[in-house]
Amino acid sequence: MGDHRRRTLRQAESAGFEAVTARENGVLVGFVYGLPLSPRSTWWEGLQLARPGDFTVETGRRTFAVIDLAVLPSHRGRGLGRRLMGELLGSRPEERATLATDPGNPETQRMYERWGWNRVGLTPGAKGETLNAFDLYVIALRSTGEASSFR
Ligand SMILES: CC(C)(COP(=O)(O)OP(=O)(O)OC[C@H]1O[C@@H](n2cnc3c(N)ncnc32)[C@H](O)[C@@H]1OP(=O)(O)O)[C@@H](O)C(=O)NCCC(=O)NCCS
Repeated sequence: MGDHRRRTLRQAESAGFEAVTARENGVLVGFVYGLPLSPRSTWWEGLQLARPGDFTVETGRRTFAVIDLAVLPSHRGRGLGRRLMGELLGSRPEERATLATDPGNPETQRMYERWGWNRVGLTPGAKGETLNAFDLYVIALRSTGEASSFR
């Protein structure tokens, strides 16, 4: 948690960081946040792609990374998670978004796939990360020929 807190505080100060929160009577019941990948980002490191091309090339304006999405257990299953994600991604200027999930949590993965995200592969978790490996997902945000659920 120490690492997570330090990392989150650093992310919150980065250019382009954005968070959306849900409150009920002033009490926080859900949130989602993320930031654009910088040209020096290690996000895609270790990702095996059949035809890599320039897929993993970042400019600072190309890809928005969704870092965390959470809703209080008492408030789940009412569409809040999907709405938070839609609010965050609906106004982002980047061409695509990415997120990392736990490969051992098929229910969450199916949820993202229903929301239009595509799995692109597995990456090893860096030192200090919460998991040893992550499944990476991508969704198009602007018209690049692919459909998007958020525009
Ligand atoms: C993932 C999470 C944010 C979803 O929040 P939520 O407010 O329940 O989201 P929604 O109500 O928009 O519903 C999410 C989807 O899961 C389904 N779902 C909701 N509650 C469910 C339940 N108890 N069992 C099975 N499916 C459920 C919904 O049908 C919905 O699918 P759909 O959008 O295709 O209809 C929430 O479960 C959570 O905070 N989980 C712990 C943190 C986490 O796993 N975050 C994601 C890490 S990558």
